[in-house]
Amino acid sequence: MKTYIDQSAQFLKQRGFDVPEIGIILGTGLGQIVDKIENAIDVSYNHIPNFPTATVEFHMGKMIYGDLAGKKVIVMQGRFHVYEGYTLRDVSYPVRVMHALGIKKLLVSNAAGAINLDFDKGQIMLIEDHINLQGGSPLAFKGVSKLGTRFTDMSTPYDRDMSDKIEAIAKAKGITLHKGVYASVVGPQLETRAEYRYLKIIGADAVGMSTVPEVIVANHLDLPVAAVSVLTDECDPDNLKPVDIDDIMAAAAKAEPDMIQLFMGLIEEL
Ligand code: HPA
Repeated sequence: MKTYIDQSAQFLKQRGFDVPEIGIILGTGLGQIVDKIENAIDVSYNHIPNFPTATVEFHMGKMIYGDLAGKKVIVMQGRFHVYEGYTLRDVSYPVRVMHALGIKKLLVSNAAGAINLDFDKGQIMLIEDHINLQGGSPLAFKGVSKLGTRFTDMSTPYDRDMSDKIEAIAKAKGITLHKGVYASVVGPQLETRAEYRYLKIIGADAVGMSTVPEVIVANHLDLPVAAVSVLTDECDPDNLKPVDIDDIMAAAAKAEPDMIQLFMGLIEEL
């Protein structure tokens, strides 16, 4: 696997992805931050050797390199999901490539449903911890120990320093920021009422279909990571309405400017 990772990284280096400091993975409906990147170079996922083959829906997916808030960043616009048929290793592969390119920190965003009913859609939750409900591990393969320690410690999966900084920025800018536990499911179907009840009982504050594999791999690589969920719907089992994707996208769009402020503020401080 190391050879594959190095080939992908080498290709991007040749395209000008020289000295990235920070990697950023953007969630569904959260792509606007790319407009703020200066001196941008982009490469489509389907041109990068050994990258998971982009699906039709994701022909738009690309990696962008450039300057953001004074730092060299790589931004992944669009990510791979297990619900598209990719494996957990596939969806976390780009993290390994960004690490090989030299990133020192990783920022992750996603769209998620609010299990904690004190949270409103359109607000943001800083992920403090997670529950992996995707039925496997991105580290469960032969040869994993050549890339990092197999029995990766997950006692502090989200970097305290970055998370504290995000909280301070939210406070300074008057942005409501919740904190909580993110549960990752496979999807793509939404949850039943019984599943929302279950998620609440086991301690989840938000639920989504991504992020956890990438965060596990970041921990495997000793790469400090912070993550936020943009809350797009309220998962109240006793008052559940059919899901409306337009509604979810609208809630993501509403919270996106706040998310951009948090990320740019953090990048400036790193
Ligand atoms: N469940 C799972 N994933 C989601 C949800 C949800 O309610 N909302 C946005 N992503």
